[in-house]
Amino acid sequence: MKPVGLKTKIFLDSGDSVETAEILGKLGFLDGQTTNPSLIAKSPESLQRLKSGDKFTAPEVTDFYQTVIQKVATIIPQGSISIEVYADEHTSAEAMIEQAKSFSTWTPRAQIKFPITTAGLQAAAAAVAMGLSVNMTLCFTQQQAAAVYAATAGAVKGQVYLSPFVGRLDDSGQNGIDLIKNIIQMYSAGDGHVEVLAASVRTMDHFFSSIKLGADIITAPSKILNEWSVGGLNLPPQDFVYHTGNLQPLAYEQLSLTNPWQEYDLNHPLTAKGLAKFAEDWNSIIKK
Ligand code: G3P
Repeated sequence: MKPVGLKTKIFLDSGDSVETAEILGKLGFLDGQTTNPSLIAKSPESLQRLKSGDKFTAPEVTDFYQTVIQKVATIIPQGSISIEVYADEHTSAEAMIEQAKSFSTWTPRAQIKFPITTAGLQAAAAAVAMGLSVNMTLCFTQQQAAAVYAATAGAVKGQVYLSPFVGRLDDSGQNGIDLIKNIIQMYSAGDGHVEVLAASVRTMDHFFSSIKLGADIITAPSKILNEWSVGGLNLPPQDFVYHTGNLQPLAYEQLSLTNPWQEYDLNHPLTAKGLAKFAEDWNSIIKK
């Protein structure tokens, strides 16, 4: 059962529907699931197939992704399910929109993931205007978060998620939790149409800090959700303090949310690196 007083929605970050059922069983609830190309490529079913030396054809891999999503949807029919478009640095907004339209037919609660790049934001703005729901991924800066807010202005609450990647910022020596804190503070001046989804959550401290900061959603791998369940689904205590160790703090940037989205700086090396890695993992399971 969801702990009383927990406002943050809890999602599983996984490309494996077996984990969905396991985690739902352990927590007694699950508000949604996020997937990405790397998680699908590394799912046990995909690995099993590759072990037999049989890579997917391009249509087969899309069918496989659809099957995974539909299995997840039968386990958590009320849950939000994030499905990521294939994109590399050359993918056009139009190509992303085509994927979004198709993926949205897979399940009624689809949230289409687009990268925070110029083409990704163009695609997201068009998708939102069509009434689709989106999850903007690979967020590493407040500027990117402000751009997402501006590009999706007019969307209804629940239609837009923003995924800041906590663990990957930590890996680079910067305090990823500061990014969550800064974006929540910045968005508090807005109309609430973008929900903050803490992603790349690697530790219980990330998990508890995100709850404490009031993140709308957390997506976490099964390892973390298992740990939370073993600990009795506790909420962070009142006096919870996040010890950041040697991580470099991220200063709050005073930004307007109402500029045209093209005016914000969308660049971050980890966005480019993340995009390339998602594409590489996806291509690695497809026959040449
Ligand atoms: O789903 C995106 C995100 O959660 C990825 O996490 O651990 O690969 O940085 P990670």
